[in-house]
Amino acid sequence: MTSARPVAIITDVTDLSVDPAVEILESAGFAVHVLALDRDPIVPDAARSAVVALAGYAFLGREFFDALPDLRYVGTASAGFDMVDIDTARARDVVVQPLVGVATQEVAAHALTLILAVERDLVAAARGVADGGWSESYAALPRRLSELTLGLYGLGRIGRQLAAIARPLFARVIAHDPYVTRAGDGVDALVTVPELLSASDVLSLHLPLTPATHGVVAAAELAALPAGATLVNVSRGELVDSDALVAALDAGRLRGAGLDVLGGEPPRADDPLRMHPRAIVTPHVAYLSERSLEGYLRQPARSAVAWWESAHAR
Ligand SMILES: NC(=O)c1ccc[n+]([C@@H]2O[C@H](COP(=O)([O-])OP(=O)(O)OC[C@H]3O[C@@H](n4cnc5c(N)ncnc54)[C@H](O)[C@@H]3O)[C@@H](O)[C@H]2O)c1
Repeated sequence: MTSARPVAIITDVTDLSVDPAVEILESAGFAVHVLALDRDPIVPDAARSAVVALAGYAFLGREFFDALPDLRYVGTASAGFDMVDIDTARARDVVVQPLVGVATQEVAAHALTLILAVERDLVAAARGVADGGWSESYAALPRRLSELTLGLYGLGRIGRQLAAIARPLFARVIAHDPYVTRAGDGVDALVTVPELLSASDVLSLHLPLTPATHGVVAAAELAALPAGATLVNVSRGELVDSDALVAALDAGRLRGAGLDVLGGEPPRADDPLRMHPRAIVTPHVAYLSERSLEGYLRQPARSAVAWWESAHAR
């Protein structure tokens, strides 16, 4: 006998527990299959009738959609949805629902933390103390923030939040976002990409990863920044050409980089950015707080249930 219950899948298990999502989906009447498509891309037969999928890290490409002909909804546990082949999803009429706005405050705070840590050379100073030293000898003296321009590449939720909290610290905050027409609080001017690059003493990335934004900061863009600029990326590693970034850091073209994301996570043990003296790297934790974690654990499942119930109420 086949089950009359709708089927939901969780595509793979990330660092976050899937138990709360399973409980929410099962309480709403779903039969839930937790898969490991990041390790084995074959969808088991029992899961092929799924109507709802909650995505993890595994890339959901054409083969995934081919294997799930009844699929109608994919929810992601992140603001980005770069793990979903969006063109195929659209062509198959599958709703893709990213998890938006759950960690805006946390990610903006983390970006500001990285900016300040690089500008104040915090990690090297603290490491010197931990190693038994007590010295004022900086590789490069910190800069006075009120003499610097902060540039925001992307002015959505997180970019705006960062502008609001960082504005009192900087001389100027400028931003580039092709889809934004009003600067808003904390932003002094909307500018073109060349203007953004040439004026940003600190450049912070807050745009999504899409085919159009892949490698949007490469050698030419890094070379266009003011000498000694700081680059901060809390968005997606693939926005930046990492070889070009390492070269710019090695050459001292950049003061430093604060990175919460790298191209390919986790990075290889010998990834030069892991231990680069001019880079401060955190392991994709910008979104985390006690409060935001609740949203990440439960909201994708709740949104999927709400979508399913509204689709069936019609
Ligand atoms: N590190 C983390 O833990 C973490 C957590 C949440 C989000 N993120 C990343 O942060 C990104 C931004 O999140 P958000 O909530 O602010 O998203 P959002 O959709 O509110 O804002 C993104 C902005 O980027 C703009 N944009 C798109 N293409 C652009 C381009 N070519 N140039 C400039 N701007 C462009 C959009 O118009 C939009 O205003 C997400 O896509 C995600 O990759 C990272």
